[in-house]
Amino acid sequence: MIEIHNIHKTFNGVKVLNGISGNFESGKMNMLLGASGTGKSVLLKCIVGLVKPDLGSITYDGRIFANNKLDIKQEIRRKIGMLFQGSALFDSMTVNENVEFPLRMLSDMSKSDRLDRVQFCLKRVGLEKAGNKMPSELSGGMKKRVGIARAIAPNCTYLFCDEPNSGLDPLTAITIDELIKEITQEYNITTIVVTHDMNSVLEYGDNVMFLYKGHKLWEGHSSTIMDTNVKELNDFIFSNRLMRDAKKVDQIEAEERLEDEQSREEKR
Ligand SMILES: Nc1ncnc2c1ncn2[C@@H]1O[C@H](COP(=O)(O)OP(=O)(O)OP(=O)(O)O)[C@@H](O)[C@H]1O
Ligand SMILES: [Mg+2]
Repeated sequence: MIEIHNIHKTFNGVKVLNGISGNFESGKMNMLLGASGTGKSVLLKCIVGLVKPDLGSITYDGRIFANNKLDIKQEIRRKIGMLFQGSALFDSMTVNENVEFPLRMLSDMSKSDRLDRVQFCLKRVGLEKAGNKMPSELSGGMKKRVGIARAIAPNCTYLFCDEPNSGLDPLTAITIDELIKEITQEYNITTIVVTHDMNSVLEYGDNVMFLYKGHKLWEGHSSTIMDTNVKELNDFIFSNRLMRDAKKVDQIEAEERLEDEQSREEKR
């Protein structure tokens, strides 16, 4: 489990994170939800250690991360897999070399063990035949899969995915969400997914934290998110017509059920 407490971050006098606290459980899809520019990526970068918070604490399974000794931070870092917003593959490396990269940097595995692990990870994401391709030869969905294979290559305990399905068609987006959820449950990984996609939240989210202008305004299980009374979250969820129509159908069905029950009561 990852626990964060009272995280603050200011850039050039502008407050971007305003005292965020919460827990992210292992084996679960923990979603960070919010509109563009609201501080999701900055919070994720604080948790991973790419940005230093001005204030607050971050613990990984009870071990303090920020401001701890370098060797303890490095030990935790070795257990972190990261899928960046936009995949961020190395253009000049093959798929095999991309996935092998964290193993070369972070482990003392032999070359043949590294290649076995690369093959295993590529197979796990359904790309076992793409090892010799260059990133420029891959579709957007394939790039995300390579990014996931690279993230899980060092046997990660913690997996961070920043907008894993942005820029993908709805069907490919679902397969990527599904893959991340499967891997999370299979290896009991503590996964944090940054998203603004309500479809991902409703289909694959477990715990959800909603950020609004650097504040945490709501958290809970994805199954309860539609019943929220938080205005900003409601505005966010129902900002598109499909969701508004779905809510109307939901309300009409609930009213019909109520009327049915009342007429049955009256007949008795
Ligand atoms: N290194 C930085 N220096 C200065 N300002 C930054 C830096 N990183 C982020 N910000 C600012 O912090 C705010 C939050 O940015 P962040 O990238 O976390 O948004 P986001 O919620 O991830 O948005 P999106 O959904 O568009 O990715 C923005 O106003 C951004 O300009
Ligand atoms: Mg972002």
